Amino acid sequence: MKVAVVGLGKVGLPLAVQYASRGLSVTGCDIDAGRVERINAGDCPIDGEEGLDEGLRAALEQGRLRATIETNEAVAESEAVVIIVPVGLTAERAPDFTHLDAAVDAIAAAARPGTLVVVESTVPVGTTRGRVGAALGEGVLLAASPERVSSGRIFRDLRTYPKVIGALDEASWSKAEGFYGAALEAPCLLRVRDPETAELAKLAEGLYRDVNIALAGELARYADTLGVDVTEAIAAANTQPYSHLHQPGVGVGGHCLPVYPHFLPADASLRLPAAAREINDAMAAYGVARLEEALGSLRDSTVLILGLAYRPNVKEAAHSSALLLVDALRQRGARALVHDPLFSDAEVRALGLEPPERFPCDGIDAIIVQAYHDAYRDLDLRAFAGCRVLLDGRNALDRASVEAAGMRYVGIGR
Ligand SMILES: NC(=O)c1ccc[n+]([C@@H]2O[C@H](COP(=O)([O-])OP(=O)(O)OC[C@H]3O[C@@H](n4cnc5c(N)ncnc54)[C@H](O)[C@@H]3O)[C@@H](O)[C@H]2O)c1
Repeated sequence: MKVAVVGLGKVGLPLAVQYASRGLSVTGCDIDAGRVERINAGDCPIDGEEGLDEGLRAALEQGRLRATIETNEAVAESEAVVIIVPVGLTAERAPDFTHLDAAVDAIAAAARPGTLVVVESTVPVGTTRGRVGAALGEGVLLAASPERVSSGRIFRDLRTYPKVIGALDEASWSKAEGFYGAALEAPCLLRVRDPETAELAKLAEGLYRDVNIALAGELARYADTLGVDVTEAIAAANTQPYSHLHQPGVGVGGHCLPVYPHFLPADASLRLPAAAREINDAMAAYGVARLEEALGSLRDSTVLILGLAYRPNVKEAAHSSALLLVDALRQRGARALVHDPLFSDAEVRALGLEPPERFPCDGIDAIIVQAYHDAYRDLDLRAFAGCRVLLDGRNALDRASVEAAGMRYVGIGR
């Protein structure tokens, strides 16, 4: 079976490699010519994706994968087309369909009756049928199957999660079932009634986590007023099978959770997603206020943030809480330094942030743990001579070892 994967990003390239590993003949399409060239040369453009380097090399050696900027040509010779380009937000925080519309235009020009097109991008409900289907026209088979994997462990997730698929009609389902049955090693293909159900399922997963973490954040703030350790209370609560509370922290970033609430139309009248966003975005300032309390004042102090990435071990800074922490620190007159082993100093500066000159370094008053990368686990805190307070923004460190390094430990809700 010949397949075209449109969008060779953090998810699209691993998908292309996965399909090739199952013996399918895959053409990956991207508008970025430099990226396409690198992929064809076996030079993987994505860091930190387990199994991707080897998988890409094997797929190229076996002649099962090639990349191109000519989406039309690839679609014309494919039986199945997977769309995996991002839908982000405009400056006004409305869904930005620019990439999706461009991809669909290129596909529409070459798709034939009987070609299967699957929308794997996360989209507002109704996009697959109303926007993509309308542009593709009659005869093209259509399904929504939003990708649910996480960067860094995509191949594992593809083998572990059921593949949720909502097809437009029986013919679309039958072709999608054949394609995914051949291309994946998923435990099962989970057919849902229609594309809208599949689209809503993906948004629901993300909204659930954002709301859940917001509740954990509110409980943490309350626990701080009580002098209770919220992590102990949450662990105890979760021994009851209906409680699945997540952990509080200094915020929720990334290209998914902060974005999805803006995919809900205003007339959908959902109140919790917007409230959760507001609560989660306020946690950075809350953490900084706790730090200020511990230090006495932040004015003219220097604070080192560990972790620019929105979550540990992933090189992705989109909507990272590090950016909110820097704003909150600067507003209180502090100098914020940002360190991340996954980003070069130039990449940190490109975001308007200041990296430390050396690492570890002295001359700082406080540390904020924002993303607790594995690389930080062996960090000797005594190397930060003179540092007085550590704000554990992820409740990930051991209080005793922080105090043994001569710093006061401050957690979120502890
Ligand atoms: N990254 C994740 O962890 C993750 C997890 C689950 C779902 N998703 C979803 O997957 C989708 C893609 O995300 P990503 O992280 O891979 O994005 P990305 O930014 O890493 O990559 C997107 C790629 O698409 C290419 N592209 C843009 N417009 C194009 C066009 N018209 N034709 C061909 N290629 C085009 C870009 O050049 C880029 O290489 C999004 O909808 C996202 O919500 C992402």
